[in-house]
Amino acid sequence: MSFYHKLGILPEKKHTTFFKEDGKSLYREELCSTKGFSGIYSTKYHINMPTSTLKVEELESLSDKNWQNAPLSYYHFFTDKLQTKGNYFTSRNEFLHNSHCVISTSHPTENTDFFFRNSYAHEFVFVHFGSGSLISEYGILPFIPGDQIVIPQGTTYQMEFDSFENNKLVIIESDTPYDIPKHYRNEYGQILEDAPYCERDFKIPSELKAIDKKGEFELIIKARHRLFKHTIDHHPFDLVGWDGYLYPYSFNIKDYAPKVGKLHLPPPVHLLFTTQHFVVCNFCPRLFDFHPQSIPAPYFHTNIDSAEVLYYIEGDFMSRKGVGTGSITLHPLGLPHGPQPGKTEQSVGAKETYEYALMVDTFDPFELTTNVKETMDENYFLSWIE
Ligand SMILES: [Fe+2]
Repeated sequence: MSFYHKLGILPEKKHTTFFKEDGKSLYREELCSTKGFSGIYSTKYHINMPTSTLKVEELESLSDKNWQNAPLSYYHFFTDKLQTKGNYFTSRNEFLHNSHCVISTSHPTENTDFFFRNSYAHEFVFVHFGSGSLISEYGILPFIPGDQIVIPQGTTYQMEFDSFENNKLVIIESDTPYDIPKHYRNEYGQILEDAPYCERDFKIPSELKAIDKKGEFELIIKARHRLFKHTIDHHPFDLVGWDGYLYPYSFNIKDYAPKVGKLHLPPPVHLLFTTQHFVVCNFCPRLFDFHPQSIPAPYFHTNIDSAEVLYYIEGDFMSRKGVGTGSITLHPLGLPHGPQPGKTEQSVGAKETYEYALMVDTFDPFELTTNVKETMDENYFLSWIE
C-alpha cells in the first residue's frame, strides 16, 4: 500500500527490548519485507516465535488439470457452471494460468478452522457475492460485494463468510506485487488528483486483537501448485502490534471514478493496479464519448503482446453478445478482437453504459485448464459471423 499504517502497541524504537507484562520475556520482532530489504515492509511484534513449527507435511495438490493442446482461439466460459463445495481455499477452481498469473473462481460454502498462506504469490480477491471478514495477522478487514482485496504474499489469513448461501470470489494470483500505477502517484507516493481513486477509498485492517493461545494450529501453505501443512504450536494471530506499508487492503469497484473522453479512450484509462507482468482494470458505468459522430464501442484491435481476460460482473456489456454474470472471455494475444455484429452500430448515439467488469491483460500467453473446456460456449469463436 502507498501509505503508512499502524495498529496495537509498539516499542518506541525498532530493534530494542520490548518486554511483555511480566517485565522479563520479550515480544518477538519480525520484519516482513519485499524486494529483499529494499521494498515496502511492515514490522510485527509477536507473542511467540513466528518460526515455531511442530510438523511439516505435503498435501495432495489441488491443481486442476491442464487442457493439453487447447486450440489458439477465442474463448467464452461460464465460471458459475463449476461450483465446488468447500471453504475459500478448497472451493477454488483454476481456469487460466501462466508463470506469473493464475485465475480461479470459488463459491465458498463453509468457513475453516485452518489458516492459509500463499507463500509464492500475492492474491487479488474480487468479492462478487458474499460478505464477511478477512482475518489476518494484521487485524480484521470486513468485505462486501464489489470489494477487491489485495493480500500480500506471505500473509497468514482466514476468510470468514456471514452466510453460505451465495458466495462468489474471483482470485488472481500474481508472482509480483499489486501496485498503484506510477502515473497515479506523485513523487512522494501520494495519489494524484486526476487518478480514478484516492486514499480515502481504500479500506485497511482494524481491530487487532492478539490471541495468546498454545496448542496445535494448522497452517496450509501454497507454494505455486504444491501444498504444505505446517502445524505450529501457537495461534498465528498473536501480534500485539505492527506498523509499516505492507498489509492487506481493499478497494470497491463501485468507488472507481471512470474517465470519459470526446472520442473512444483505450483500456489504460480503466487501469486499477499494475504488476510486473499484467494489469488489472475496472470497467464501470459511465457516460459515453461526446463527439457528435463518435463510436463509443471499441474498434477492432490486435494486442500483439497481451492476452485479454474479461470477467463480467453486472449490466450490459457494450461490446459483447451472449456474455452474462460470471462469464469470462479470453482473447489470446496475437488475434484481433472487437465488438460482435450489431454492437458497434448499437453504441452510436448512446449516451451512457451500465456495465461492471474486471479485466486482466497479461504480457504472457495463458495455458488453459480442463475447467475451461467443461464450461465453455463451444461456438463463441463463430460469434462474429454476420
Ligand atoms: Fe481488447
